[in-house]
Amino acid sequence: MCGIVGYVGPRDGVPIALGGLQRLAYRGYDSAGLAVAGRSGLKVIKTRGKLVDLERKLGARFKGSPIIGHTRWATHGQPNDDNAHPHLDESGRIAIVHNGIIENAAALRERLQASGATLASQTDSEVLAHLIAASDASDLEGAVREVLGVVEGTYGLLVLSADQPDRIVVARMGSPVVLGVGDREMFVASDVAALVRYTQRVVYLDDGETASVQARGFQTHTLDAHPTEKETFAVHWGGDAYERGSYEHYMHKEIHEQPQAVERALRGRIDARFDTVQLGGIDLSARDVLGTRRIKILGCGSGYYAGLSGAHLIESLARVPADAEPASEFRYRNPVIEPDTLYIAVSQSGETFDTLAAVHEIKRKGGRVLGIVNVVGSTIARACDGGIYVHAGPEVSVTSTKTFTSTLVTFALLSLHIGRIRDLGPRDGRRLIDAMRALPEQIARILEAEAELADLARRYSEYEHAFFVGRANGYPAALEGAQKLKEVSYLHAEAYPAAELKHGPLALVSSQTPTVAIVPSDHLFDKNLSTLHELRARKGPIVAVGHGDPRLEGICEDAIGVPRSEPELDPVLLGIPLQLLAYHCAVALGRDVDQPRNLAKSVTVE
Ligand code: G6P
Repeated sequence: MCGIVGYVGPRDGVPIALGGLQRLAYRGYDSAGLAVAGRSGLKVIKTRGKLVDLERKLGARFKGSPIIGHTRWATHGQPNDDNAHPHLDESGRIAIVHNGIIENAAALRERLQASGATLASQTDSEVLAHLIAASDASDLEGAVREVLGVVEGTYGLLVLSADQPDRIVVARMGSPVVLGVGDREMFVASDVAALVRYTQRVVYLDDGETASVQARGFQTHTLDAHPTEKETFAVHWGGDAYERGSYEHYMHKEIHEQPQAVERALRGRIDARFDTVQLGGIDLSARDVLGTRRIKILGCGSGYYAGLSGAHLIESLARVPADAEPASEFRYRNPVIEPDTLYIAVSQSGETFDTLAAVHEIKRKGGRVLGIVNVVGSTIARACDGGIYVHAGPEVSVTSTKTFTSTLVTFALLSLHIGRIRDLGPRDGRRLIDAMRALPEQIARILEAEAELADLARRYSEYEHAFFVGRANGYPAALEGAQKLKEVSYLHAEAYPAAELKHGPLALVSSQTPTVAIVPSDHLFDKNLSTLHELRARKGPIVAVGHGDPRLEGICEDAIGVPRSEPELDPVLLGIPLQLLAYHCAVALGRDVDQPRNLAKSVTVE
C-alpha cells in the first residue's frame, strides 16, 4: 500500500520525509518521490525503485519545506518514473501525492484532454493536479475542495502550490491521513508510524475533511467549507517501538512481545474486589447489558477469526448468543439491524475499509457498535460508540500475531464483564481472572520451546498442503493457524471443523497431506481423538497441538504441548505454537516474512 508523508516547518524537510517514507516501506512499494516548494517554484524528484534510488537522484540542492513525499504500490499504470508520485500539473505549479483510487479518473482525464491538457502518466491520481491547477478558487484549500466535489473515489491527498509555498493542503476520504503537531512545525502522514520519531501529538482527519497545514498550525474544514473542531491524541509509542531490534523479522519480534502485550491488555482492568473487570472505554450500563439479546462481531482476516473466538468466549461466559461474520459479507447483504443486538467491530489497524463500512452501515440504521481496536484514535475506533483498546503496541509485520492474541484476551475481558452482570458467579469470575493473569508467563514458557518448533517447521515445510482442524473454540484457532501458514509461507493450508473432515476433505488426506490438529485435554478430547484415528487410517501425518496428553502417544507424528489454562482461555495459548510454526516454515522456505507477496497490512480500499 502506498505511503504518504509531508513536513512544513523551519527544518530541511528532506531527511524528515525520507525517514518517514522509510518507516512506511514495510508496506511494500515500487517507486518513490518527493516535491518541495521554494521561492523558485516547485521541484519534484521521483523514481521507480527503492528509497535509496531516490536518495541517489536527489542531490544536495534538493531541500527545503514544505515538502511532500510518497511511496507508490502500482495499481493504475506500470511502476515507472512517470507514474511515480508526486504528480504535477502542466505548468508545474501544483504537486500532489495521493493514496486511494479515483474512480472517475477516465472521464476526468478525457475532459482535461479535450480542453488541451497533456497528461504525463497513466495514473488515476494525476488528474487531481491538473484539475486543482485549473480551479479559479482564491486559495489552495478552496481549489482542492472544489475539485474534490467532482471526484468520485477514495483519497488521502497532499497538495503543494507554488503560489502558496507556506502550506500543505491535505484531504481525506477513505484513505487515512494523520497530522503530527510539533513545536512550530507540522507533519503529515498516512500512518502515525511515520511521525512518532518527531512528535507524539497527532490529529486524525475524518472522511470528507480538508486541512490547510502551516508551520504554526492547521485549520480543518468539511468539503463544503465549514470549519471543524479537532481533538489531539497522544501516541504512547516512541520511534523505538517500530524498530526491529535484534530480530531478523518484525513477525518474530511481535510473536516474542506477546507476554508484555497481554499484560498491557489486562493492565488496570481487573477489579478483584468484585471478581470482574472494569472497561473504561465502553459506556454500557448494567441495564444495557441485560437488555442485550445478541452480540454480532465483525472483522476481516485475523480480526474476523479473533471475532469467531470472541463469540465462543461471550457465549460460554456471558451466555449471550454471539457470532462473527466477515465485515465485507455483512455490509453487502443489507443486514437487519436489531435494537437489542450489540455489534462489535474488530480491527488491528482501525482503518480496514470493509470493517469501517460495516460500522457505518450499522450506525446509519440506528445500531450500536463497540470497537475492539489496536490503533488508538484510528478511524474505526472513532467511528464506534466506545470500545476497548487492545494495547498490543505497534504491529508492523503484515501478518497479525500479538494483536490477534491480545484481541482474544480483550474478548475474555469483555465476556467476563458482561458475564458478571448476568449469570457468571464470582467463583467463575475469580477462576478466569486467575487464568488471565497467568497467561503472560505461560506464553513466555511456550516461546522458550521455540527451537523444537523451528525444527518441526523445517520438516513440515517440505509438504505442499496442510489441513488444520479443531472443535468448538479450537476451530477458530485452526482457522487462524492455517491463515498464518498461508500468508507467510505460501503453503496451501485449509482449516475445517474437525467433524467436517469426513464430509469432504478426508478425500485429500494421504501421506503427503499433514494435518495440524488442535487437541486440548478438555471435554472434547475423545471426539478429537477419533478424528486423529480417521487421519491415521489414511496415513495422514498429524501434528497435535494440545496439552501434552499421554493419550496422544502413538497416534500422531508430532505433539506440541502448551500449558493448561481454563478451557475458555485455552485457545489463547494453543495459537502461539501455530504462529511459530508458520514463521519458521516461512523462514525455512526463504519467504519475505514481513511483507508477504500480494498482501498489505492495512487494506483501506474495497
Ligand atoms: C489485512 C492484513 C491482515 C489483517 C486484515 C484486517 O488483510 O494483512 O493481517 O488481519 O487486513 O486488518 P485489521 O487492521 O482490520 O485487523
